Order: sequence, then structure tokens, then C-alpha cells
Amino acid sequence: MTATRPDQEQAASEPALADAAPIHPLPRHVAIIMDGNGRWARARNLPRQAGHRAGTENIRRIIEGFAEHGVEMITLYAFSTENWSRPPEEVDFLLNLIPEVLERETAKLHEKGARLRHLGRLDVLAPDIQRAVRDAIELTKNNTRITVNLAFNYGGRAEIVDAIRALLAEGVPAEAVTEEVVSAHLYTAGAPDPDLIIRTAGEMRLSNFLIWQAAYAEYYSTPVYWPDFGKDDVRAALLAYSRRKRRFGGLDPH
Ligand code: IPE
Ligand code: IPE
Ligand code: MG
Repeated sequence: MTATRPDQEQAASEPALADAAPIHPLPRHVAIIMDGNGRWARARNLPRQAGHRAGTENIRRIIEGFAEHGVEMITLYAFSTENWSRPPEEVDFLLNLIPEVLERETAKLHEKGARLRHLGRLDVLAPDIQRAVRDAIELTKNNTRITVNLAFNYGGRAEIVDAIRALLAEGVPAEAVTEEVVSAHLYTAGAPDPDLIIRTAGEMRLSNFLIWQAAYAEYYSTPVYWPDFGKDDVRAALLAYSRRKRRFGGLDPH
């Protein structure tokens, strides 16, 4: 064993030749906590809003990066149910960025074969946000290269509450409630659980993200702030994942 943890070995120092080599095994589903926009801005003496805007500019590049490696699904955490506790000007700014970014990016993502979906409570958001999201989902619904779940106004606990409400409303009897039935009532119904959760900006917590689905996800934290997260960082995270040993409670095969 080496003294370095595998997730701290960075791809940046690897020879260029290795960059073309396929990574194996790959996660099917990567979920990302896009954190550090505020710190990115502060480090540049810019207002927090500049950090949030910068944090939208790498989204397409990152989606492309994962698609180029062959990842089937990515989930991007953009606004949590807890983010409502920020000052109202910041909340407004963040929510207004959603239709703006969809307007700018959806056609390009559609050309690249991305299917967009939403995770969270959409119906309480402003009508123009709802419309932008529904239009983007409709336009891209038949794409198969990569599925991109946009998690905003998303909370893992709210998701579980919504699933319980749906189960009760359907009159599902207690003995029929299984893990599969619960999964099928989450916003992510039908999607594979995330194999890899990436968090930028260094925090070591889930912040209410995919708390049911992440039960056996591999966790990867990088100090890089979200606006600086690039294709090299995508590769580094996938390489770290490929070196993990997943046991799911069992034992390593001999
Ligand atoms: C992530 O950046 C974006 C959202 C949570 C909406 P932050 O705004 O949390 O940035 P920091 O954590 O203050 O640096
Ligand atoms: C998590 O980041 C939510 C998103 C990235 C959307 P936060 O910045 O809100 O998380 P905490 O407050 O540090 O836990
Ligand atoms: Mg943060």
C-alpha cells in the first residue's frame, strides 16, 4: 500500500498519453455538489453574484467531459431547499439564473445528445422558471447520450417526504412498502443510484443531497471551487473512482 489515498492522486501530473486511455470501471451516474461560487468570487474581490454567474459557464463543458468518458447520467445540485435561507437578493439572483442558463445552453446541449430532467419541487417556483424547465425537458426527451438531472429547489428530506405522501395517497399497504417501492416514488424513479458524488470547494458533507440514493455512493471531495472545475478535474475524479473497491457490505473477492 502507498501512503497516498487514491482520491488524492491527481491526474494533472500523469503523462499526456494516459489522458486518452479509457477509465475503467466508470460510474454510471455521477452527482455533483457544485459548491464554492461565493469563495471563488471573494478570492477575486468580486460580488458573490459574479461567482454564481461564473459557475454557470463551465456546466456545458463538464457535461461534455463526462459524456466523452462514457458516463450515462449526471446530477447537478444547483439550489437546495436550505438555500432559501440566504438573503432574498441572492435567492432571487440564483433562481433567475435558471431560465437564463436554460435559454443559453439547452439548444447546445440538445445538439450534444443530452437529455435534461429536473429533480425537486418545481411547482412552487415562478411560472417562467417552470416553463423554461418544461420546455428544456420536452425538447431533449428523446436524447440518449447522457442524462442530466438538474436538482434545484431540491432537498433529500423533502424528496422522502414527497415519496411518503405519494405512497399514502395511493393507499399502498404497509407490508407492500419495500426499498424498491420507496425508490420508485422518489424524484429519481427509474434512474440508477449515484455511484460517485463529487463535491467541489472542500466541504465533507452531503448538505441534504440524494440522501437515500447515495447510501453506497463513493464520495470525492476536491478543494477546487466550482467555477474552476474543468475537464482535468473530471478525469481526476473518475480515476479516483476507478481505484476504489466497492464492497456493498460484502467481502473482496479473492
Ligand atoms: C454554490 O456556491 C452555489 C449554491 C449553493 C447555490 P456557494 O454560494 O455555496 O459558494 P460558497 O460556499 O459560499 O463559496
Ligand atoms: C450545497 O451547497 C447546495 C448546492 C451546491 C446547491 P451549500 O453551500 O448550500 O451547502 P452548505 O450550506 O455549506 O452545507
Ligand atoms: Mg456553499
